[in-house]
Amino acid sequence: MDKKYEGLVKQAIEAMKNSYSPYSKFRVGAAVLTKEGKVFTGTNVENASYGLSMCAERVAIFKAVSEGYTEFEAMAIASASGDASPCGACRQVMQEFSPNMKVIFAGKEFSLSELLPRPFSGGSLNV
Ligand code: THU
Repeated sequence: MDKKYEGLVKQAIEAMKNSYSPYSKFRVGAAVLTKEGKVFTGTNVENASYGLSMCAERVAIFKAVSEGYTEFEAMAIASASGDASPCGACRQVMQEFSPNMKVIFAGKEFSLSELLPRPFSGGSLNV
């Protein structure tokens, strides 16, 4: 992992503290770095109606997008297990905005394209 992302990892760990996960008791935190150098954090937010629960990664991205930031350089993910990999839905949402972003978890740095090869994208909708 590039040393320049150490601060981002710390922010993801810090974000875990606000995880609302009374059902799974599995805390997740995410910190996404925008192209402009701004960081947005997120935690998983669960619901008694389980299917309504939202992952930390998407909370962080949706916070950024709703504030006008849509291009991302990197995201760090922290979890109770220490090695949780982002789910498929979150990978798809990342690729919507920044197909070449870096994703950091388990102390390693990945490119989104290696985590989600041959993605479905908006380009396919231009029929
Ligand atoms: N979770 C995340 O926040 N991100 C992931 O990428 C995988 C799973 C959350 C959802 C749920 O609140 C808990 O972890 C257990 O699945």
